[in-house]
Amino acid sequence: MNEFAPTVAPAAKTLPDAQTVTAVRHWTDRLFSFRVTRPQSLRFRSGEFVMIGLLGDNGKPLLRAYSIASPSWDEELEFYSIKVPDGPLTSKLQHIRPGDQIILRPKPVGTLVHDALMPGKRLWFLATGTGIAPFASLMRDPETYEKYDEVYMLHTCRTVAELDYGRELVTGLKDDPLIGDLAAGRLHYFPTTTREQSPFMGRITDNLESGKVFDYYGIAPMNPEDDRAMVCGSMAFNIDVKEVLEGFGLREGANSDPKEYVVEKAFVGDGI
Ligand code: FAD
Ligand code: A2P
Repeated sequence: MNEFAPTVAPAAKTLPDAQTVTAVRHWTDRLFSFRVTRPQSLRFRSGEFVMIGLLGDNGKPLLRAYSIASPSWDEELEFYSIKVPDGPLTSKLQHIRPGDQIILRPKPVGTLVHDALMPGKRLWFLATGTGIAPFASLMRDPETYEKYDEVYMLHTCRTVAELDYGRELVTGLKDDPLIGDLAAGRLHYFPTTTREQSPFMGRITDNLESGKVFDYYGIAPMNPEDDRAMVCGSMAFNIDVKEVLEGFGLREGANSDPKEYVVEKAFVGDGI
């Protein structure tokens, strides 16, 4: 063996559809957000989701659906993620750092888009947990304020700390050069907790059914002429809130058949 032969380092694995992580922020021991470079060719509608992931132990891509949390005009892409302790993807994804690569399949899809709703006056974003991600995108999209007079963001989590990502985002919008003026006085944020004391308490379903939200803002209850809603949460939440919305006379729409409300699962597999 020639000891002077050049050693060949194993080729660095190049990920298919690789994007580079530019920032990571941990919000709680169960939640983090991160930003990645945006493929030049990627066009998406605010509210859509893509498949992202890492290489699994078997060398094959391990992909999961993720709502894009950044608006469609942003140069980078932002995601807001759960950390499932034994989750195949997030047990690894939670350790990413700036400079690391993730896989991102550039094929955005989803129902939480303006095109899936008929024109209306008031738009309601109804989310539990990480279900706020698509609305983090839509809240920062000028089209939202061009299409609606008033926007209501209802977000419910078990604890106060789990609301932090959304709260910081909404609070920061007033200084946003693009959205600040558009959203001022028209984006109404109603964050509630269910298992820890906070200024606003209770499930979204209860706060809508009891009329507490409408009384708080001094507005008429939801009706199919004026109100449009987008829903994103656990299966249980989605099922229950659909019933509430139907009770107000709203009907479920889709990209191909716009109506008064649309729904997307924030995740699958919670046993329902
Ligand atoms: P998995 O095997 O996928 O999940 C394990 C279990 O963890 C699930 O059975 C479920 O009970 C629970 N779980 C999974 N995701 C969540 C969650 N977000 N909140 C609470 N419990 C959960 N996840 C995000 O964190 N952010 C997103 O923006 C997001 N967007 C999604 C959009 C769509 C359309 C769908 C269908 C799912 C979305 N998810 C999102 C869920 C995501 O696809 C994965 O399930 C999640 O990243 C966990 O992956 P995992 O492989 O670690 O565990
Ligand atoms: P609760 O604490 O009363 O169960 P989870 O972490 O289980 O996904 O829940 C996130 C938030 O969504 C919690 O505040 C929870 O309230 C609420 N939630 C869970 N299921 C429903 C439902 N079926 N209808 C309305 N809110 C729900």
